[in-house]
Amino acid sequence: MNNFMVVGVMLCLDKLKVAVEDKVILKEINLTIAEGEIHVLLGPNGAGKTTLLMAIMGMPGVQVIGGGIYFQGRDITGLELEERAQLGIGMAFQKMPQIPGVTLRTLGELIIEKHGQDGSLAETAERINCTYLLDRNIGFGFSGGEAKRAELFQLLLQQPLFSMVDEPESGVDLDNIALVGSVLNDLFERKQVKSKKRAGLIITHTGHILDYLNADMGHVLMGGKIVCRGNPRDLLSDIQRSGYEHCLRCES
Ligand SMILES: Nc1ncnc2c1ncn2[C@@H]1O[C@H](COP(=O)(O)OP(=O)(O)OP(=O)(O)O)[C@@H](O)[C@H]1O
Ligand SMILES: [Mg+2]
Repeated sequence: MNNFMVVGVMLCLDKLKVAVEDKVILKEINLTIAEGEIHVLLGPNGAGKTTLLMAIMGMPGVQVIGGGIYFQGRDITGLELEERAQLGIGMAFQKMPQIPGVTLRTLGELIIEKHGQDGSLAETAERINCTYLLDRNIGFGFSGGEAKRAELFQLLLQQPLFSMVDEPESGVDLDNIALVGSVLNDLFERKQVKSKKRAGLIITHTGHILDYLNADMGHVLMGGKIVCRGNPRDLLSDIQRSGYEHCLRCES
């Protein structure tokens, strides 16, 4: 039986091949994430990590040219971005998009209208230290750390079943990394073992976020393929010691 048919599997990528502007970025990605699991995606700059998240989210301009994306057993390869969000897939971007004329508050209200269950906008903004950003146009003049927190604010409101977070600690100061880590813990309900259902995929270069979050599995993306898998902390320390080229030796 294929992995995507197995009960308890949240996300399954089956021989996924992706191109951007007719250039093949991802050649063949096989990845299975079960309910309740957090996976980490590692890889050098330009490997295609962000492109993979965008393909799963269904972002325009990212073309799936082979294979499939399955979410809770359903083939979502052809679904629109909006439909995927409604099914419970969410993403915090590496680079916050800029939306002129739309404030963070307006976007937050729209997310609550579409997805929101628990927690008010004001409480959530306070939780992630975004209250003072609510009436700013999205993405304009946000510092690196503010942009990361504003992205997480949106995910907290959406409460996706499957959250993808692209470099949550990049540009974030040490005090705020602890905040981001604790918010991600809440998002994945890691503190409440009995409701261990939500899952996620997190991109990190430094692994700092792993000090706040126990990840179940790590994957190294290189040359359009996942070349190595294992315990995320072990993978990171191997990469720190021997570089990414070392990971290619795992490929077989
Ligand atoms: N619109 C585009 N047009 C041309 N090439 C693109 C486009 N978008 C992405 N690419 C290319 O696809 C490759 C993968 O980019 P991607 O952003 O997915 O890498 P990444 O692994 O997330 O890197 P980083 O660690 O630097 O964030 C890069 O070579 C990038 O230049
Ligand atoms: Mg990236």
